[in-house]
Amino acid sequence: MASKSIHLILFLAVSSLLHLIPLPSHCTDPGPLQDFCVADLESPLFINGFPCKNPSHLTSDDFFYDGLKKRGTIFDALNVNLTQVDVYAFPGLNTLGMSMNRVDFLPGGLNPPHNHPRATELSLVVEGKLFVGWVTTDYILYWKVLTAGELFVIPPGLVHFQLNVGEGRALFYASFNSQNPGITIMAEALFDSTPLIPDPVLSKAFHVNDTIIELIKSRVAALYKSSY
Ligand code: GLV
Ligand code: MN
Repeated sequence: MASKSIHLILFLAVSSLLHLIPLPSHCTDPGPLQDFCVADLESPLFINGFPCKNPSHLTSDDFFYDGLKKRGTIFDALNVNLTQVDVYAFPGLNTLGMSMNRVDFLPGGLNPPHNHPRATELSLVVEGKLFVGWVTTDYILYWKVLTAGELFVIPPGLVHFQLNVGEGRALFYASFNSQNPGITIMAEALFDSTPLIPDPVLSKAFHVNDTIIELIKSRVAALYKSSY
C-alpha cells in the first residue's frame, strides 16, 4: 500500500515537472492537421487561429496575395512604410505557420525597437543599406550593416530595430514562422499604453523625474498616432 502511494506521488511529481519543460512545439505555431484551412475572418468563433472557410468554396485566389509588389508611398513619422502580410491580410496563411512583411525606408528611416512575441524573423535586404540590431536576454547587442542580398535572423521575442544608414531608400522583406507574429513597439508599450503606466513607475525605472516622463509620453503619443 505504502509503495503504491510512493509511486503515485512520484508519478504526479514527474508529470507536473514535464509540464514545466518548454517543448519546442510550444515556441511556434502548431502544425496543421489538414492540407490547408483558409481563415474565415468573419466567423463568430474564438479559437486559437481561425476556423476554415468551406473548402469547396475556395479558388486559387484564396492562396494568392499581391499586396507586396507595391512600393510603400505613405511613410510614418519615422520615415518607414510597413506592409504586414499576416493571416489578417492573407487568410490563406491560416494554420501554415508563416507570414511576411515588406518594410520601405526613406533616407534616415527607423523601424523602432520592437519584438514579435510569437515568431523568429528572417530579414532579407533587397535595396539600400540597413543597420539591423537585436538584443539578447543578457542585454548583448548583435548587429550588422546589411546590403542587398544579405540576411539577418532575429530569434523569437527579442527586441530589434532597423535604421536606414544609406544615402537613398532602403527595402527589406521579413519572413516569420508564425501566421500572426504580433508586434510590440517598446516606446508605445512603455509610454503610450491604455491606460498609461503611472509616472512613478517609469520615473523610478528610468531614474529621471516625472516631468521628463510626461514629456516622453506626450512625444511618443504624437509620434505613433499615425503609425502602424
Ligand atoms: C521588421 O523588423 C519587421 O518586423 O517587419
Ligand atoms: Mn521585426
